Amino acid sequence: MAATLIRNGTVVTARETVKADVLIEGEAIKEVRPGIPAASGDKVLDATGMWVIPGGIDAHTHLDMPFGGTTSADDFETGTRAAAFGGTTSIVDFAIQARGTRMRDALDTWLKKAEGRACIDYGLHMIVTDLGASGLEDMDELVDEGVASFKLFMAYPNVLMVDDATIFKALSRTARNGALICMHAENGSVIDVMIARALAEGKTAPVYHALTRPPLAEAEAVHRAIAMAEIAGTPVYIVHLSSEDALNQVREARDRGVPAFAETCPQYLLLSIEELERPNFEGAKYVFTPPLRPKHHLPKLWDGLKHDHLQVVSTDHCPFCFADQKILGKDDFTKIPNGGPGIENRLQLMYHYGVNAGNFSLNRFVELTSTTPARIFGMYPKKGEIAPGSDADLVIWDPASVYTISSKTHHMRVDYSMFEGYEVRGNARTVFSRGEVIVDGGEFHGKPGRGNYLKRAARGGAWK
Ligand code: URP
Ligand code: ZN
Ligand code: ZN
Repeated sequence: MAATLIRNGTVVTARETVKADVLIEGEAIKEVRPGIPAASGDKVLDATGMWVIPGGIDAHTHLDMPFGGTTSADDFETGTRAAAFGGTTSIVDFAIQARGTRMRDALDTWLKKAEGRACIDYGLHMIVTDLGASGLEDMDELVDEGVASFKLFMAYPNVLMVDDATIFKALSRTARNGALICMHAENGSVIDVMIARALAEGKTAPVYHALTRPPLAEAEAVHRAIAMAEIAGTPVYIVHLSSEDALNQVREARDRGVPAFAETCPQYLLLSIEELERPNFEGAKYVFTPPLRPKHHLPKLWDGLKHDHLQVVSTDHCPFCFADQKILGKDDFTKIPNGGPGIENRLQLMYHYGVNAGNFSLNRFVELTSTTPARIFGMYPKKGEIAPGSDADLVIWDPASVYTISSKTHHMRVDYSMFEGYEVRGNARTVFSRGEVIVDGGEFHGKPGRGNYLKRAARGGAWK
């Protein structure tokens, strides 16, 4: 079988950094060691001066998602293509159960959205809005279909929010079926009262989105979520954690040995609440939930990544165009579709501001952006690893490449970047997905529809 040999690179995994060649045969890694000889017919790539890392895994994206009366601007084709340019080779997106319907229907709907479009492999979490009469059995059925994680909302009353009884029942079910509950932790009831007060006082600008969702509303919900998981005797994963207050809750629980896990996102590490005060309604570009926080929260989150109080960096990629979508909330911040773009820039930002800036090591970079999400979400060691037998999802990473992030050149289907003009050093040069080069030197070589649905295993890393 024709093989590909990546020569002279430095292989970086979560465990080690070693000079080694990587031999790819078909869709998988065949061998990793120094001095692998090339057989005739092998394609040989020189990776001198490069890192060879496992493809990035973004465990939190929203492609083609209906939200706030509109739909996120990237579909499974444009979003996964943009992800590939940035070195991400797997995503886990979210299917949404419509109230009063079966979760299986939502799974089928989302599989259809992805089929024929996805350029990289994709898994799905299920957003549970209603347990109804059969919801707990439905959860078991979905676990058998490879949906090994469920997201529940403690925010957005009357839309996505579920009550504590529902949360506790779902958590308790995962104690039996081995799935993982991902929690959007904000106290939605308190936030709704604060929103109503703000609007009554004529406070309609984008910044009030942040001011009506204080860090304590996040911390309280994180505390409650972890407490309920602890009572149910099951792990829990907090999504898009944004504040020092919330982080303290996770750290306190982990220090006691409670299996609580959390992710944060580049926007919470690099941007602060001032962005929402940009003139000409441009603050709307930074309206997402939880909101951006005052600057003093940022170093605490970096510290959390370094010390494993936070385990994953994902994007919460949920793009809405400024010109015709964000504008829906021109006179009322509650009508601004919540979400921001980021699927393409996660590795660049975490490498530059994480590794180059000395906030964490190269191995930790791989762990946070690939290996741990693979473990926690039931994809390891097929994904997130460079070892014989693992999928050949690899990135040849050029640590010297300088790149300026801009909506003028990015591949996401959205008319702005949250990181416009940011200059980063370190970028994906060649991206392999299951042995196939899908990006090389800024050119896309993949095809829509080549991405496979990832059937994920229950009892992943959160259970170990
Ligand atoms: O504002 C956000 N985060 N939009 C996406 C939905 C969610 O809560 O993750
Ligand atoms: Zn959320
Ligand atoms: Zn999200």
